Amino acid sequence: MIATDSKVLLSLRGVKAFYGNIAALKGVDLDIREGEIAALIGSNGAGKSTLMMTIFGDPRAREGVISFDGRDITSMPTHAIARLGLAQSPEGRRIFPRMTVFENLQIGAAIGDPRYFDASLERVYAIFPRLKERSGQSGGALSGGEQQMLAIARALMNRPRLLMLDEPSLGLAPLVVKQIFEAIADLNRREGLTVFLVEQNAYHALKLADRAYVMVNGLITLSGPGRDLLAMPEIRAAYLEGGR
Ligand SMILES: Nc1ncnc2c1ncn2[C@@H]1O[C@H](COP(=O)(O)OP(=O)(O)O)[C@@H](O)[C@H]1O
Ligand SMILES: [Mg+2]
Repeated sequence: MIATDSKVLLSLRGVKAFYGNIAALKGVDLDIREGEIAALIGSNGAGKSTLMMTIFGDPRAREGVISFDGRDITSMPTHAIARLGLAQSPEGRRIFPRMTVFENLQIGAAIGDPRYFDASLERVYAIFPRLKERSGQSGGALSGGEQQMLAIARALMNRPRLLMLDEPSLGLAPLVVKQIFEAIADLNRREGLTVFLVEQNAYHALKLADRAYVMVNGLITLSGPGRDLLAMPEIRAAYLEGGR
């Protein structure tokens, strides 16, 4: 969905974050507009996951401002940030392996309005029918692709306004990656859900993204429509060869 003139939902200005004395984010500026798919690509260790976690307040931004829907969230506790309508599927999925699929989804809905639980459950089961079939199985018994679907579904249970996904394609077979990216595109197209996609495997992310950002060593070095970046030889050389 092209949303160049819609309002900015998430904005970062001059954001710096550190691990001890080591700067992982060195002054990040970034805007995500309502209704768009934004992608952040970059090599391993660039600071992509740190950026996602810093938006949720862990680690805290030591400098700069993060705002969501016009509200300054830079110093807000993580649970309060989640209540505003941000949800994330973290890198490595981190579902609860001993709990069933259904129980994982219940936990995802914990901060949401209980009146919407049934509708939210139906919605995620419609997006990922496999999860419905496996609702009574333990999370640990699922395939990698199904675990990724569960991680995304769990994030959706709170009906977020911004869904942030950290490397949803990591370690998955190409066909499964395609399914997951189609589900993300569908959510955006049909429901207008705003998505922030962090990916090392840049091809699908750039193809999908209305706006993409490239991160190198804790800084944004380039941004533009995903397809424009996809066409740039230096981007192809750095992030695509072998990355498809
Ligand atoms: N918990 C941590 N403690 C110390 N350094 C970390 C920690 N997590 C990440 N880093 C370092 O911060 C930098 C950015 O890491 P990360 O955000 O995970 O990058 P990416 O997600 O782009 O691969 C790397 O140099 C990494 O080694
Ligand atoms: Mg990462």
